[in-house]
Amino acid sequence: MSSPPRHPLGPAFAARTDWDLRTNRWAAGAVEARGAADGFDLTVTNPTAAGLAYPRERILAALAAPAALAYEPSPRGALAAREAVAAYYGARGAAVGPERLLLTASTSEAYSHLFRLLANPGDRVHVPCPSYPLLDHLAAINDLEMAPYPLWHAGGWHVDAAELERDINSRSRALVVIHPNNPTGSYLTAEDWAALLAVAARHRMAIIADEVFFDYVWDPALRPLDLAIAAAPEGPPVFLLNGLSKISALPQMKLGWLAALGGEQAWRQAALARLEVIADAYLSLSAPVQAAAAELLALRGELQSQILARLRANVAVLDSRLARQTWVSRLSAAGGWMAVLRLPAWRSGDAWAEALLRRRVLAHPGEFYGFSGAPCLVVSLLTPPAAFAAGLERLLQCVAQAAPPG
Ligand SMILES: Cc1ncc(COP(=O)(O)O)c(C=O)c1O
Repeated sequence: MSSPPRHPLGPAFAARTDWDLRTNRWAAGAVEARGAADGFDLTVTNPTAAGLAYPRERILAALAAPAALAYEPSPRGALAAREAVAAYYGARGAAVGPERLLLTASTSEAYSHLFRLLANPGDRVHVPCPSYPLLDHLAAINDLEMAPYPLWHAGGWHVDAAELERDINSRSRALVVIHPNNPTGSYLTAEDWAALLAVAARHRMAIIADEVFFDYVWDPALRPLDLAIAAAPEGPPVFLLNGLSKISALPQMKLGWLAALGGEQAWRQAALARLEVIADAYLSLSAPVQAAAAELLALRGELQSQILARLRANVAVLDSRLARQTWVSRLSAAGGWMAVLRLPAWRSGDAWAEALLRRRVLAHPGEFYGFSGAPCLVVSLLTPPAAFAAGLERLLQCVAQAAPPG
């Protein structure tokens, strides 16, 4: 690695922080469009700013529990809080006991702890592409190489396990799955899962399974594969990640976790013991949130039902509006908070997103998430319905007006 230039005003920074921190054109335009009175933001994914009705008194009362006043540091997380998380899995029909859990401030932190546990600098983590760009960043700050493996869209979404396996080498340490993936909204099928387990077992790799959107299935008839049940004791180690951020729509509470499943029992215990040392270096969870964990998880139904109603209503509006034109289509999805739109090939996704910004509509270009090939835009289905419908209308007008003559 070449050493970064010294900073003109002081000591050099570590090469891993040698980022281009200039605001990109889309982000600069987005600030302006967000401030415009007649703008429509189709990128709203912050649930606390999406017009949901939170049970305010219940949340605030939970945070005022007397246990919030005591400091009893526990690197794995307070037992009562881990029991509350175990009960969440129990409600899914999965047996994930508190002894398998380690609490973190967020799912992102759980990823980082696992990267520190499993990989040395320069090692590789295999991650699905397209997916949420957070992973590039987490891999980079942990000095890891991120190796994307493809998800193909052909009718539905398919994991290319053969391509993944071809790319595995002696530096490969972990295989990330996102279930359902963000932003494609695709759940792994039982066949995908079996193929990924086999790859991980053959190459002695651990699986890191991010299930933050697991509960947000659009089709009530769909029963997605539950990885908490599907991670077999005789299979490779599987670390499930999740947190209050999406389960209870409370990202500000900063409570996530990892659950160690699968693998040899002795390996799993050694892994948890090492993770405990990593977590002990930070002790990043606050006492109030741990004391409130059971209550904050218990209110998830109230939030999830509002969010699911919103997601389904926006998908219905989207599909019925798209059915009346032919330029834009929606890629199939089964759940999650986002929808991916395919646009005409006259422009890249980036160029479409910029053209929309000029009309004060915010939608993410597919390139943010690693889409290549046909241009795509990613829109949030959490957007309040009136803004969603109006923003979509303007998006479709923009595309129709940009159509080449004839
Ligand atoms: C797939 C996925 N995983 C993890 C996260 C981060 O979750 P947390 O807020 O728990 O760090 C996000 C955030 O949107 C996400 O989309």
